[in-house]
Amino acid sequence: MAARGALIVLEGVDRAGKTTQSRRLVSALCSAGHRAELLRFPERSTEIGKLLGSYLEKKKEVEDHSVHLLFSANRWEHVPLMKEKLQQGITLVVDRYAFSGVAFTSAKENFSLDWCKQPDVGLPKPDLVVFLHLHLAEAAARGEFGHERYENRPFQERALQRFQQLMGDPSLNWQMVDASRSIEDVHKEICKLSEETIRATAQTPLGTLWQ
Ligand SMILES: Nc1ncnc2c1ncn2[C@@H]1O[C@H](COP(=O)(O)OP(=O)(O)OP(=O)(O)O)[C@@H](O)[C@H]1O
Ligand SMILES: [Mg+2]
Repeated sequence: MAARGALIVLEGVDRAGKTTQSRRLVSALCSAGHRAELLRFPERSTEIGKLLGSYLEKKKEVEDHSVHLLFSANRWEHVPLMKEKLQQGITLVVDRYAFSGVAFTSAKENFSLDWCKQPDVGLPKPDLVVFLHLHLAEAAARGEFGHERYENRPFQERALQRFQQLMGDPSLNWQMVDASRSIEDVHKEICKLSEETIRATAQTPLGTLWQ
């Protein structure tokens, strides 16, 4: 079996450094001789993604259940491409994945964690989920919230509680990383975890999420 790439996901509260770190990770992996590419969710370039973009920018209202399914659909529409790349030996670094989707919808009233997980059951299972841990007060010190939907403190607090529930799942390789340190220190730790994961998973089949 040819070595497959690893599926590496970065999660964390707003402004924890997911985008900064996922970009740096891809470039470090490529410099180290790996094939690696960056993905992000929501991926706003598709038809579904454009709708999600206007929803997040508050230009459009979408019913809560319906929009949850659309966020999931936006991941599913990328699955064939993701599988193809992983099979070709390309490591994928993903800036937010199903965990953000579940944490955010289940932070709304009257949504159970279980209901929120169902649409993403069966997605490619990450080989590593890095959770960038940062206290909300420290995140706040990195600048004002933007004006997009969900960018407010009470909502972020509820989402963080949901992330903590998701991290209790031992079937996933969650790694908590202290995101309060310098960009460089955080980067080094994520690189080490990623290199280990790439080595450990190269000859293993890709799993399915929450199954
Ligand atoms: N370790 C760090 N120390 C200090 N500032 C940081 C650190 N990491 C990122 N930042 C800064 O914090 C801000 C948010 O970073 P970034 O956009 O990477 O976070 P994010 O988790 O992707 O946020 P969002 O959830 O809003 O997409 C940026 O201004 C970035 O330069
Ligand atoms: Mg980001």
